[in-house]
Amino acid sequence: MMRRLALLAIGIVALLFGGYWLMHRPPAITETATSVTAAGVTLTSQTLALPDEKIAFASGTEGELLTVNCTACHSPEMILNQPRLAADKWQATIDKMRKAYHATIDPANDAKLVAALTTLPAQRAPAK
Ligand code: HEC
Repeated sequence: MMRRLALLAIGIVALLFGGYWLMHRPPAITETATSVTAAGVTLTSQTLALPDEKIAFASGTEGELLTVNCTACHSPEMILNQPRLAADKWQATIDKMRKAYHATIDPANDAKLVAALTTLPAQRAPAK
């Protein structure tokens, strides 16, 4: 009799744990899952095809400086398509990137960046 009661108690405890686990187990995530639902929230994977970068800064120290500091948020075209700007206007643009968009451009590089920007081929062309 006591043995049966003990077995019954063990069975009930096992059922409780099993039920709890079934209700609270983590969602199965596989490599190919495109969506996962947990706690009433569904997250769905999206594929976003961005256009290929067609234009880059010329290779070399100055091009690299511009690539590192200026292409995290937009393409080089944003810079290469600007009208001819004087050095103070480029400095103002760098300041704007920093203030308005929180670009982490080291101020120690400002002079070199302005030099690189004002000597871009499009910037050297005669003003239209
Ligand atoms: C932290 C992100 C970020 C970085 C880094 C950044 N920019 Fe920008 N830039 C922006 C955003 C955002 C815009 C506005 C885009 C729009 O209007 O579509 C912008 C716009 C511009 C424009 C268009 C004119 C204007 O004033 O809006 C120029 C020129 C420009 N950036 C130059 C630069 C240069 C040069 C650097 C590097 C020294 C740089 N950016 C680095 C975020 C950044």
